[in-house]
Amino acid sequence: MKIQEKLNNGWFFKPDYCEEFLRKKDFSDFELVNIPHTVKEIPYDCFDDKTTWMVSTYAREIEIPKEKPERVFIVFDGVSLAFSLYVNGKQAGTHKGPYSIAFFEITEYVEPGRNILICVVDSNEDPNIPPNGEIIVDYLLYGGIYRDVKLYYQDACVIKNVKVGYDLEVKENGRCGDVILKPELYLNNASTEGTATIRVTVSGEESPVRCYERVITVPEGENSVVLEGELFRDIELWNPGKPALYEVEFSLSFENEEKKAEDSFRCRVGFRTLHVESKGFYVNGNKIKLIGTNRHQSYPYVGYALGKRAQEKDVDLLKEYGMNIIRCSHYMQSNYFLDRADEVGMLIFEEIPGWGSIGDEAYKQASLDNIENMVNSHFNHPSIIIWGTRLNETLDDDDFYTKTHELCKRLDPTRPTTGDRYHKHSNLIEDIYSFNDYPASGTKDGISTGRLTEPRIVTGRPEGAPYLVAEYIGADFPVRPWDHEERQEKHTLLGLNGLQDAMINDGYLGIMNWCAFDYNTHSDHSLHEKICYHGIFDMFRVPKMGAYAFKSQKDPSDEVVLEPCATVGRGERSNIAPFWVMTNCDYIDVKLSNDIVRRYYPAQEYAALAHPPILVSENGEFWQVPWAGSVIIGYIDGKEVIRREFPANPHLCLTVRADDRKLCNSEQDETRIECIYTDEKGNRMYNHNGAASIEVSGDIELIGSSIRSAAGGSLAFWVRTKATGICQKASVVIHTDRTDVKDQMVEISLYI
Ligand code: GAL
Repeated sequence: MKIQEKLNNGWFFKPDYCEEFLRKKDFSDFELVNIPHTVKEIPYDCFDDKTTWMVSTYAREIEIPKEKPERVFIVFDGVSLAFSLYVNGKQAGTHKGPYSIAFFEITEYVEPGRNILICVVDSNEDPNIPPNGEIIVDYLLYGGIYRDVKLYYQDACVIKNVKVGYDLEVKENGRCGDVILKPELYLNNASTEGTATIRVTVSGEESPVRCYERVITVPEGENSVVLEGELFRDIELWNPGKPALYEVEFSLSFENEEKKAEDSFRCRVGFRTLHVESKGFYVNGNKIKLIGTNRHQSYPYVGYALGKRAQEKDVDLLKEYGMNIIRCSHYMQSNYFLDRADEVGMLIFEEIPGWGSIGDEAYKQASLDNIENMVNSHFNHPSIIIWGTRLNETLDDDDFYTKTHELCKRLDPTRPTTGDRYHKHSNLIEDIYSFNDYPASGTKDGISTGRLTEPRIVTGRPEGAPYLVAEYIGADFPVRPWDHEERQEKHTLLGLNGLQDAMINDGYLGIMNWCAFDYNTHSDHSLHEKICYHGIFDMFRVPKMGAYAFKSQKDPSDEVVLEPCATVGRGERSNIAPFWVMTNCDYIDVKLSNDIVRRYYPAQEYAALAHPPILVSENGEFWQVPWAGSVIIGYIDGKEVIRREFPANPHLCLTVRADDRKLCNSEQDETRIECIYTDEKGNRMYNHNGAASIEVSGDIELIGSSIRSAAGGSLAFWVRTKATGICQKASVVIHTDRTDVKDQMVEISLYI
């Protein structure tokens, strides 16, 4: 199928519904909105967690050409939580589930000329719709049409989907291989049986275009066919370090006695093998330790309603901070997010929606439907290396989980499955035993051990089993961005403890922290704030010190990292030192206020890490000596590679940076603007919490409050375009509440 038009712009919205809306022709009393949209913007914190629970109405006109297309389809990529679609007042379909793709044929409901689409969206959280159940989940589901809506005009015979399966023989240490392409086409034929020629075109950035054809018989109705294999030699493989991608296009020419039909389907694929055993996870035969985090797809104020650019930035940010895997906790995420992961070589563990409880038979059926929706929609993303077929942290139900696992294997025999547990000695139906290990709360003699549990103790399998830590820290050690540096430092070390334990023992396939970003939640999980401060970044994607545990593990040829878990100065601790420095340098020299320079080396207790942190230890020399500032210098191969200076009497400065300064104004587009209070040497002033006001002009809007106080020395926000289709310059001014800190302006060019 080929998109005719994206239907993201120009919806009429009312946070309300009554039956007579279905007969309405004029919606000028509704609000004009664009997709992605949320039914209600919420405050950052301390709000009623049912604020977005409502039934609301979205209406939009579509113009169907005079010569009516033979078939018309509409696809909703994500609507939270459930909705009914009406076309010209008649119900054309319903869908339940905030994360699955909804696909409708609306041919019989549309006429040439003006047609009215109405979506009645129910965003009341419902225990019968996963992920909610008997237990209310630890995150908000928000509400509204928050992912793309697409319209398709088609002939009688349609390629609804293609899963590009293949066999691969890996060569040259996993860099290239011979591929036998075996795509499975999902066809929908509204005519009687006919014959179709399928032309397959494969093109890669650095390889010649290759084509082949197959002739198939297409029966009437829904059916699927695996095309007879075609061999491609010397294909460059998709590797996390060099993710080669190929475009594949399937063109269909269909014919029977009555009809002719044409269609095409394009997708992007990457070729790679996956193999898992108890001592390792292998991509193209190369063992890789999975190090990463969990991501909720929510943002402050607008919940799920940020589009392509924001989705992509999350992948980029987590890559920049040294992660090689992201768990899509706890549901299917945006194709934009997954596309980006494909492009940059990020590995993905995606799972079906669920949290803490399994419901009745209908609930189980909804979960099986979610498996089908997830695997069929996301099959072609090479970045996805694991499917999660359990509902997060539920107890064993062998009958149900055998069904989810087997369905997943039938739809995709190539990827390993797992299911995330909080309990030990669970029956292992899947390929990998995943466990949420919260050792920071595990205490021994009243002292937090902060260490991972041995895989065999968790699985109860002395012979070993593929084992993955899918969550640790965060939940049991929340950190607010403005928390005292010693708590931030402890959080960072807990992060490193997990990494160290996982690196030293082959029994861990990998480890993912809980979690990437702070997120809004229900009162059941955060009484008055409605925020889980579990992230290594805050909700605005600004790092806490804990993020540097991961970033410091990067190869210094990518980026040299040297970040002290301290403000490095007087007043925060009984003495200035000891404090830890997260770094990938070989050693550091530190001058702390007197003229003595001391050299410190990576800590032996973290020797399993690629880059152990360095402890600047207490030596009692720095007390009662006038504070003259500090310098920390990092060395690699005996050469100075980084120098951090901490002035004696720092001045407050404001550094403002936009993630992007060019935005698309033909549809809604967003960029984040990050304002960090630093000293004159660029060190973040973590303890500053001054206020600022934000003013925007041009065809952009600020998302959230225009009056903000810094938290943890930073404030960040998103601005979005109004989708007016005008090219112009827009601007954002940040006014500070200080006369000694200059206001800042960011110019943004809007293109179409
Ligand atoms: C885990 C759960 C996560 C999150 C975390 C923090 O048990 O899997 O989704 O809720 O606890 O409370």
